[in-house]
Amino acid sequence: MLKNKHIILGITGGIAAYKSASLARLLVKAGAEVQVIMTPSAREFITPLTMSTLTGKPVITEFFTANTGQWNSHVDLGLWADAMVIAPATACTIGKMANGIADNMLVTTYLSAKAPVFVAPAMDLDMMRHPSTVHNIEKLRSYGNYIIEPAEGELASHLIGKGRMEEPENIVRVLTNHFAEKDLTGHHILITAGPTFEKIDPVRFIGNYSSGKMGYAIAEEAASRGARVSLVSGPVDIRVNNPAIELIPVESARQMLDACVALYPQCDCGIMCAAVADYAPDHQATHKIKREHEDVPVIKLVKNPDIAKTLGEMKQPGQLLVGFALETDNEEFNAIEKLRKKNLDMIVLNSLRDAGAGFGTDTNKVTIFTASGRTIATPLKSKTEVAHDVIDTIISIAHEP
Ligand code: CTP
Repeated sequence: MLKNKHIILGITGGIAAYKSASLARLLVKAGAEVQVIMTPSAREFITPLTMSTLTGKPVITEFFTANTGQWNSHVDLGLWADAMVIAPATACTIGKMANGIADNMLVTTYLSAKAPVFVAPAMDLDMMRHPSTVHNIEKLRSYGNYIIEPAEGELASHLIGKGRMEEPENIVRVLTNHFAEKDLTGHHILITAGPTFEKIDPVRFIGNYSSGKMGYAIAEEAASRGARVSLVSGPVDIRVNNPAIELIPVESARQMLDACVALYPQCDCGIMCAAVADYAPDHQATHKIKREHEDVPVIKLVKNPDIAKTLGEMKQPGQLLVGFALETDNEEFNAIEKLRKKNLDMIVLNSLRDAGAGFGTDTNKVTIFTASGRTIATPLKSKTEVAHDVIDTIISIAHEP
């Protein structure tokens, strides 16, 4: 998607500027032509030599090249770019961009750019949540700029919080998605993701290890290809990037069922990625169960509703329904049985016997079975790549006679 794309990489003066080198490398590797513009203070954090070596282009920092007197035209650069990425974006540069303070080459080019602008903030947590920064970021959003939200984690100050620049791989992903073919425009897709938590008492629950990564990857893939996505998600630790994804957070299987039953009639397709707990306590204690009890408490379980099966019964002609199966043995037989029993059009099987597949990992190895009898086996891939294959296969099913 990034092949031959002209990308301006704006680097500002923050410690995360060291990550801009990896970002430039990844963009060049993906086939993009990268022109780096640095603010004067960015040069304190990473050298222009590093960046020009990685991109094969002289880095621009000033309005004029000192020794030749050549003027660097921000207007030409603004017209040249297919996208502009500012990573890291400091509070200072964000403030200048929001208020049109064009006192350096980077902000001047930003004001001249016709292309979409992506801003990856990086700063200390208190700066990040200062009303001034919050307000300036909102302003950039209102100008149609895309904000690549910073992640939570340890910051340069050793404080823990929100403010780490998003990882270069994810910034490249956001750009790739932006340029992706929009073959799902006009379609509405329902996706379930993550685990469900079934409450025992106000502080305890029955859950599972699902990270939600597969479901969120499919949601991002579908949205980047133009779909409107309703993502009904159990408790996970992932953020949604694409504004076309509507997140409906739920906790229990019952709540997930209610959200899905309300949404599915308006959708073209349902993709059931959630690891729904099969059982829930038959009642929830309203107060914390105390250790001093004489008897060890016995928790009686009741069956949870089968969300995929319920949607399979609701399914109308023209609608599709896709399930996942995580199996440990008799994988193919069990997956095809689930496809049939839940009235699915396709099931994505992953086996816990395959290294790198299943919960928590960034990779997956799947075999897809379609109701029409096709079998598609894929090698170990990233969950993003698997998401791409899953969406491609759903589209191919929609085109089956
Ligand atoms: N599923 C669901 N609701 C449930 C259980 C499962 O929607 N209560 C969906 C999952 O999201 C997945 C598919 O059904 O798409 C298969 O889930 P899985 O847990 O593999 O199968 P189960 O039907 O729960 O059977 P088992 O756990 O016995 O293998």
